[in-house]
Amino acid sequence: MMTPDGLKKAAALAALAELETLAPGSIVGVGTGSTVNHFIDALAGSGAHIGGAVSSSEASSQRLAAHGIPLVSLDEVDALPIYVDGADEIDHDFNMIKGGGAALTREKILAAAARRFVCICDASKRVTVLGRFPLPVEVIPMARAQVARTLARLTGGDARWRKGVVTDNGNHILDVHGLAIAEPRTLESELNQIAGAVTNGLFARRGADVLLLATEAGVQRHERQSAASSR
Ligand code: A5P
Repeated sequence: MMTPDGLKKAAALAALAELETLAPGSIVGVGTGSTVNHFIDALAGSGAHIGGAVSSSEASSQRLAAHGIPLVSLDEVDALPIYVDGADEIDHDFNMIKGGGAALTREKILAAAARRFVCICDASKRVTVLGRFPLPVEVIPMARAQVARTLARLTGGDARWRKGVVTDNGNHILDVHGLAIAEPRTLESELNQIAGAVTNGLFARRGADVLLLATEAGVQRHERQSAASSR
């Protein structure tokens, strides 16, 4: 039986194959979290001919730099051919909850810039309905209580401050507990309208294109149908 970390590592290693079609010197988007940490380590040892990485967090930047992988700012590239990241939950339509590591804003920016979003995770992250994992929302600090009240009113959930956490952008995180999200795209759009909320952790309007799901029986590769045409 594999450990949870072993499953994360298996998903991360499988992502290396997704880089094989890239032109030499391509810039890769890199997410954040314990699964992505395995991907960064594997990338460093893979001999893949990438030109560098655009990182979604200070933590990932430090790990990439420690491996000698060149860091590139998003301003320096027109688009990312690929973005590799984990998820806290992913449903069968490739909608996700992300932000458990508080990096959701930069992650959403890189996801938007990417032609292909490859989600790597272990099978425990796959759900039928999103929301058991509390939905993170990054907020401007002075708006925290106001946004919490608005989130509670709009969602019926309980928005709790993740005390002690300051994001790479200097903001705070609210986690909305008690949700069962029937319409992720609609809710994401509604939450995007809240003054003082920087980013919500629903990745539905731009979900994943490919899911590499590590199970005890091996890593399954799922591709969202018409990935290129419907977003
Ligand atoms: C970071 O903010 C998150 O979006 C991560 O991608 C997510 O929490 C997955 O993290 P793990 O790979 O550590 O489970």
